[in-house]
Amino acid sequence: MEKKKFYITTPIYYPSDKLHIGHSYTTVAADAIARYKRLKGYDVMFLTGTDEHGQKIQRKAEAQGVTPKEYVDKIVAGIKELWKLMKITNDKFIRTTDDFHQETVQKIFKKLYDQGDIYKSEYEGWYCTPCESFWTKTQLVDGKCPDCGREVELTKEESYFFRLSKYQDRLIKYIEEHPEFIQPVSRQNEMLNNFLKPGLEDLCVSRTTFNWGVPVTFDEKHVVYVWIDALSNYITALGYMSEDDSDYKKYWPADVHLVGKEIVRFHTIIWPAMLMALGEPLPKQVFGHGWLLLEGGKMSKSKGNVVDPVILVEKYGLDAIRYFLLREVPFGSDGVFSNEALINRINSDLANDLGNLVSRTVAMIDKYFNGVLPEERQSGEFDDDLIKTVMDVAGKIDDMMDKFQFSNSLTEIWRAISRTNKYIDETMPWVLAKDENNKSRLAAVMYNLAEGIRIISILLQPFMPETPEKIWHQLGIENGEYTTWESSKTWGIYPAGISVNKGAPLFPRIDIKKELEELEKGIEQKPSDNSRQNKGEAKPATKKEAEKSIGKEKELITIEDFAKIDLKVAKVLEAEKIEGADKLLKLKLQLGDEVRQVVSGIAKYYSPEELKGKYVVLVANLKPVKLRGVESQGMILAASDDSNLSLITVDRNIGSGKTVS
Ligand code: MSP
Repeated sequence: MEKKKFYITTPIYYPSDKLHIGHSYTTVAADAIARYKRLKGYDVMFLTGTDEHGQKIQRKAEAQGVTPKEYVDKIVAGIKELWKLMKITNDKFIRTTDDFHQETVQKIFKKLYDQGDIYKSEYEGWYCTPCESFWTKTQLVDGKCPDCGREVELTKEESYFFRLSKYQDRLIKYIEEHPEFIQPVSRQNEMLNNFLKPGLEDLCVSRTTFNWGVPVTFDEKHVVYVWIDALSNYITALGYMSEDDSDYKKYWPADVHLVGKEIVRFHTIIWPAMLMALGEPLPKQVFGHGWLLLEGGKMSKSKGNVVDPVILVEKYGLDAIRYFLLREVPFGSDGVFSNEALINRINSDLANDLGNLVSRTVAMIDKYFNGVLPEERQSGEFDDDLIKTVMDVAGKIDDMMDKFQFSNSLTEIWRAISRTNKYIDETMPWVLAKDENNKSRLAAVMYNLAEGIRIISILLQPFMPETPEKIWHQLGIENGEYTTWESSKTWGIYPAGISVNKGAPLFPRIDIKKELEELEKGIEQKPSDNSRQNKGEAKPATKKEAEKSIGKEKELITIEDFAKIDLKVAKVLEAEKIEGADKLLKLKLQLGDEVRQVVSGIAKYYSPEELKGKYVVLVANLKPVKLRGVESQGMILAASDDSNLSLITVDRNIGSGKTVS
């Protein structure tokens, strides 16, 4: 029989230079659904990717002195690494800079133009560059962007327009007739009452004031508006309008677009209108989840909180982070992230409840039965209640997962875990073990514990990519017939007579007081190389910056360590300012026969003229870096505090190129 299809997408991500744990929220949630559907036997297509065009990216790239493509390539590589680290099981990864995507966007634009749904006119209005959104004067709030509250720019340019207004009535009718289309329901009301019913204006869908975008084929000074470009990804990724559109035929319409609440508007107005114009079916559902916030506001690093997903995973483990994201906040609502709440969850839910249950059970089977459980079944009050609770939980999960109720699903699974822990207290195996006559009862108790854990471990799979396997290893079973999703619905499948394996605790407890103190001090906030790459940050330019990023920890080094640093006397030949970077000077240094270019953050303290002729000390074997797009081949030394700086110079002329030791 042909498998049922399931197509799920996340939004495609802006190559942001500040990727935080909130960003991984949509993707982790989508991954949990994709894993669950695969376990249920669906043929799943899970798509994610990156949204790489637009004015915002072009400006950022310009500020760094690199091309937009260079800028995005670096960040996208980091995003892909992050998803690998978080064990995201996407089947495809689309980049809006992919050729096939751009070609299809051009075909879509042309088709809509040819059929009269896109027309040329002039745009005059307000544009919010960070949101890449157009606004009319009346939509602005206090003259600022109604979405993000930032400054907007008055824009006047020749533009193409999409006849969005034409689709207003059809959209309203569709949404009203398909209550499942926009979820949760509150978002549906918001779209209808705040946007659709007050009336839609035609949408400006091309720009001429920058060129980092998909060119309009029949009018090359225009590039396609980023949201038209971005939304199309959901079908271009499947080969829509291409030679091989088999995936499109197979998977479209999408079962669900999972999106953050701030972009529901684009997905439930512009996107369905585009699809209506193209004559294609609409996605079955757009689910708008809430935001993960930090106490007191937006997601950014604040005192004592680490929000870098790479550091969080390295510190606390992937399954703990994924568990926290999906457990802490009901999907759809906003929630608060804090390291303290995370550590509390790790200690109580993971280390105490789940971890202890597994390690105690395996240790008891090991101790009382030499690690091999005999076949023994018994029923009694405690056994029946345990079985009833675990089966009840297993029976409820599917319905909750189908509704994306992750937090409720996990609460249910923890009901099974608590019941199983309680069973240990009730049956008191350590008392049974004292009397040989109780051996068969003890075996039955151990069996029920192992069987309960088997079922729990199966249910954890959508959320935790690592822990279930570890549990199976400890229980002595392999991923196979005893671990299928279906097998969680039947009690009594765990095979007796196999050996258990004592293992390391699944989730070591964290000393919360110590950990929080360290976080406060910021010692643990040092970004790994990986995380720095993810954030697209420039490398530290000075030793001081490097020290800051490694928490100013000073350790002793050996003379051999010191010998690794090649310090040389260098003569300043030329110095000049760098446009757009008021702290930096570009220096030409004489180093024996060699001339080096070095960028140094000393512009506030030295004028180019006074530097000429000075003999300074250069770290000559420092890896070259680009600062504001200008290569720096080493670093000159200076002494400084927050308000002053003095270069280290050589007080006798011994010639450039000499070694400093
Ligand atoms: N590029 C657009 C989407 C285009 S889809 C055709 C975009 N990108 S984004 O990088 O800004 O956001 C990607 C996803 O991350 C969105 O679903 C957004 O809601 C989510 N989140 C970003 N910060 C978040 C939190 N702090 N909390 C929860 N989700 C958040 O929008």
